[in-house]
Amino acid sequence: MSHSLAVATEAGTAELPILATPAAVAAHVAHLREQGRTVALVPTMGALHAGHASLLEEAGRHADAVIASVFVNPLQFAPGEDYERYPRTLAADAELLSRVGAEAVFAPSPEAMYPTGPNTVVIEPGPVGHTFEGRIRPIHFSGALTVVNKLLNIVRPDVAVFGEKDAQQLFLIRQMVAQLNLPVRIIGVPIVREPDGLARSSRNRYLSPAERASALVLFRILERAREASAAGVPEVLQIAQSAIAADDVAELDYASVVSEQTFQPVPDDFQGQARLLLAARFGGTRLIDNALLQFSPHGGAR
Ligand code: PAF
Repeated sequence: MSHSLAVATEAGTAELPILATPAAVAAHVAHLREQGRTVALVPTMGALHAGHASLLEEAGRHADAVIASVFVNPLQFAPGEDYERYPRTLAADAELLSRVGAEAVFAPSPEAMYPTGPNTVVIEPGPVGHTFEGRIRPIHFSGALTVVNKLLNIVRPDVAVFGEKDAQQLFLIRQMVAQLNLPVRIIGVPIVREPDGLARSSRNRYLSPAERASALVLFRILERAREASAAGVPEVLQIAQSAIAADDVAELDYASVVSEQTFQPVPDDFQGQARLLLAARFGGTRLIDNALLQFSPHGGAR
């Protein structure tokens, strides 16, 4: 069920092991452990881009060997979402993985991950999992946490690396790991952007040129919010709402400033660091973005 894919690298052709079953990846990791090597896992759904490359590079700073998983997880898509059309580009993904020095890729089929059909035992993400993304996509975080939990149990890495673009997912994964005493260290990696500021996302490829141009409003809001954050939370939210309202294409799902500790909205008079969350629709594509801001008269912004 597993094979190697020959991929072109700057140094010639390399073989990247493609491991298709939990047993194959577990055996591969056992072999790494016998060699005394530590292991990092970077879970992905494939369609890899520069944002994923930065996750893999960060993973390489924390462990001797980096395993990526590429799995479009049916459990985290509701009927009518983009599960079927989600891009599946394993050959191109393998080239990027090889280029950034990944040790192997775990690329199971849905049947290999869910041999008895969709899980009947799932992770309940708790109250935060039903706000923001979880309010709009009710089963999303249960599905995402369930597959992350399975991946952690299958690979048993020392560290696992996730992007800050999915800030709510990262918060919930940290909460799951802490509350279920999972023996892994979670590392968050800052958002990687296109040269014009659009956050890298596998879903950007769905955007038409007009939607792609409109989507820059998210980055413009974050930049203006950073400059205005000393004025306070209501001012920042006003910037977001009026910028989206002024755009012909964008439709706001939510803009909110949340606590890093609780992921709850902060009060209007909040001072300190908090995260501005944005979610908006551009035609049929939903995009999310966020930035950590400093709300205090004298503080600087990240
Ligand atoms: O962030 C993602 O790409 C997915 O939600 C993850 C963590 C790989 C789980 O399917």
